[in-house]
Amino acid sequence: MKGIGSVSETINTEKRIAITPETTKKIINLKFNVYLEKNYGKHLGFDDKDYENNGAKFYSSPKEILEKSEIILRVSCPSVNEISLIKEKSILIGQFDSLLDKESINKLIKKNIKIFSLSLLPRITRAQSMDVLSSQANLAGYRAVIESVKEFEKAIPMMMTAAGTITPAKVLIIGAGVAGLQAIATAKRLGAIVSATDVRTAVKEQVESLGGKFLMVEGSENLETSSGYAKEAGKDFKKKQEELLKNSIKKNDIVICTALIPGKQAPRIISEEMVKSMKPGSIIYDLAVSQGGNSAFSEPDKIKVVSGVKIMGSKNILNSLASTASSLYAKNLFNFVNNLYSKDKKDIYINEEDEIIKKTLIDKEL
Ligand code: NAI
Repeated sequence: MKGIGSVSETINTEKRIAITPETTKKIINLKFNVYLEKNYGKHLGFDDKDYENNGAKFYSSPKEILEKSEIILRVSCPSVNEISLIKEKSILIGQFDSLLDKESINKLIKKNIKIFSLSLLPRITRAQSMDVLSSQANLAGYRAVIESVKEFEKAIPMMMTAAGTITPAKVLIIGAGVAGLQAIATAKRLGAIVSATDVRTAVKEQVESLGGKFLMVEGSENLETSSGYAKEAGKDFKKKQEELLKNSIKKNDIVICTALIPGKQAPRIISEEMVKSMKPGSIIYDLAVSQGGNSAFSEPDKIKVVSGVKIMGSKNILNSLASTASSLYAKNLFNFVNNLYSKDKKDIYINEEDEIIKKTLIDKEL
């Protein structure tokens, strides 16, 4: 029987895991062995016994696992030391970044290792159950609201009490993609008055169906590509958007930024002037902080205070709900492995005719 293995991530920077006890069982049912490093999921409350009961085997060194595994599942890209231990011709599956992980990817290719990066999945119906970008961004949008509310020193919902009425907080979401739509839903559930804006006017209906108000950039066309992503906005659009946001940002208490154009630096949308126009005590949460940020003053993993406004954004917000994020991530990975598995051949089969396999495979140096 072939082996699927996973070694522990560097827990300080990545708390998520690639295999849960639940997916162990599913992998074993495909007739693979599962090899894991001791205490693999302990920090998330998964005891080694939970895995062993479902058929996994534990080893104390990464070396033993990587020597036995034909397929390696990961969250982040392996370290240099780990790369040196991976067997030639193994398959590595995870969510890698062709810019940030370029050096490691090239080292892996030189070792003849086949890399599948789920960041490259095509957004087609059949790939939805493997879509790590969606499963993780959805949670990021939810958590960005929760983190903002924690820093906000006022209540969110309207409350009518004998001592007086508290008005509801106003939340503005910039970018109504996967993270943005979940941020709208979360802020609504907490009782906020929510508005959102996006370059894709097609999302107006989705924003409204979640109870948000769509702020339309006047005279804008739908800046959407045929695959459903945003196109880069032109000068005219940017000017109009700036006018719209100048007026609305100062009326809001919390702003969640999620605007992204795939493969590009995040668009700078909130200027220094806009930040300073907000009421003291307001919050800006910049989810795009790792890609350069949508807001002035945002810096990864810091809370900056400018004119009483707190601007923040975590490089890896998923670490703060690593258990839920791992449970979805591990299922996405299992679904990908299941798609690689040929029932006829009773083995992994890299069918390059399959769009999912073809688009995610990195087999040439970058
Ligand atoms: P997405 O592609 O689904 O959504 C991005 C949205 O921004 C799209 O609706 C797009 O039309 C819109 N947009 C693009 N340019 C815009 C502009 N100039 N003005 C207004 N809207 C604009 O992306 P997704 O998956 O929702 O991710 C959102 C952001 O969150 C990304 O930057 C992503 O990297 C980040 N993220 C950060 C995490 C973290 O730990 N910090 C975790 C997960 C996601």
